[in-house]
Amino acid sequence: MKTTEIKSDLFWTGVVDWNLRDFHGYSTEKGSTYNAYIIRAAKTVLFDTVKKGFTSEFLDNIRLIIDPESIDYIVVNHAEMDHSGALPEIMEIVKPEKVFCTAPGKKALEAHFGVCDWPFEIIKDSDTVDLGGKTVRFIGTAMLHWPESMASFIPEDNILISNDIFGQHWATSERFDDEVDQGELFMQAAKYYANIFLPTSGAAKKLLAKLDDLGINPDMLLVDHGLIWRSKVDEIIAAYKRWSSGETNPAAIIIYDTMWESTLKMARAIAREIAGDGVSVKLYDLRYNHRSDIMTDILEAKAVILGSPVLGKTVLPKMAAMLSYMKALRPFDKIGAAFGSYGWSDTSVKHLTEALEEIKFEIIDPGVSAQYVPDQDDLSKCKNFGKRIKEEILKRC
Ligand code: FEO
Repeated sequence: MKTTEIKSDLFWTGVVDWNLRDFHGYSTEKGSTYNAYIIRAAKTVLFDTVKKGFTSEFLDNIRLIIDPESIDYIVVNHAEMDHSGALPEIMEIVKPEKVFCTAPGKKALEAHFGVCDWPFEIIKDSDTVDLGGKTVRFIGTAMLHWPESMASFIPEDNILISNDIFGQHWATSERFDDEVDQGELFMQAAKYYANIFLPTSGAAKKLLAKLDDLGINPDMLLVDHGLIWRSKVDEIIAAYKRWSSGETNPAAIIIYDTMWESTLKMARAIAREIAGDGVSVKLYDLRYNHRSDIMTDILEAKAVILGSPVLGKTVLPKMAAMLSYMKALRPFDKIGAAFGSYGWSDTSVKHLTEALEEIKFEIIDPGVSAQYVPDQDDLSKCKNFGKRIKEEILKRC
């Protein structure tokens, strides 16, 4: 992929990973990019590298702009391997004067690559480095999403090199937000937030407030994955404010698995009652939908309703995996309830309700269960259950 001059003496030198399909459990059905940037001033700086396996292509891209050996500084905004995997090889070739990172960043790099004699320069929040003509102001972004994460603000260009924040896993030949389909762009950004940043929403909220306090209103957000924001900067920042504050829409996400279609019948009966009067509902059968796509819709929905039949006094394995993923990502300010079928041991609703309580959902109904196959009486209970969920959604949204 060709390099791109973003502004005068500021270049994208990343690589595109068209084949990435899984990012630690997050389905990346459209691949990703590993973005790196070069600023040329009196000192030449490389911001982040790429995933191991792409080093050769990355070096070729750098060579289209400069001789790698002329790079003076390397900034490690984020030590996760998709941005640092190429670093040991790059260090051998570039031999930079300084490597800037946070103290936890150094620790993470040494844990990944062994204690090394790299010329680390440990920086703290608000530290600045004069490049001669341009300045880098470092902004601590701890827990967004690793303890060592930081962003680099370049005041002369009014751009923020934001590491993972505001990113999207989407492989494209385009580099800027206004060059791609807008619906897909914001969907991929929401999916990224839901699957990466949701558990650290508190830190995201603080960072957005900090940028406001510092009067930083960048013209561009140079992300480490996906499209660079230049036309929709205000919109993506507004979306992050919404997501990190837990703002929700009048919507219910019904997630279920089914053994002999009894739980499926219950799910449909419940959904029919919830839909309408401004309340939206989506049904996700775990046999056909990936947990990370479901998380994208959970992000802005008020209610999450779970259904499973009983398997060995607990729930079906795909639901168990979904619960584990939700516990890790900790969606918040939601209401929840459970339903399911059983043969001789009515335990799945209890299991699901306890799991929702553990994630701190507000349980708005004790739930509904049906033995073997739901009869008219059971379906009538499902109808009332759906009505109650709808009432609770309308009360809160
Ligand atoms: Fe893109 Fe946290 O790595």
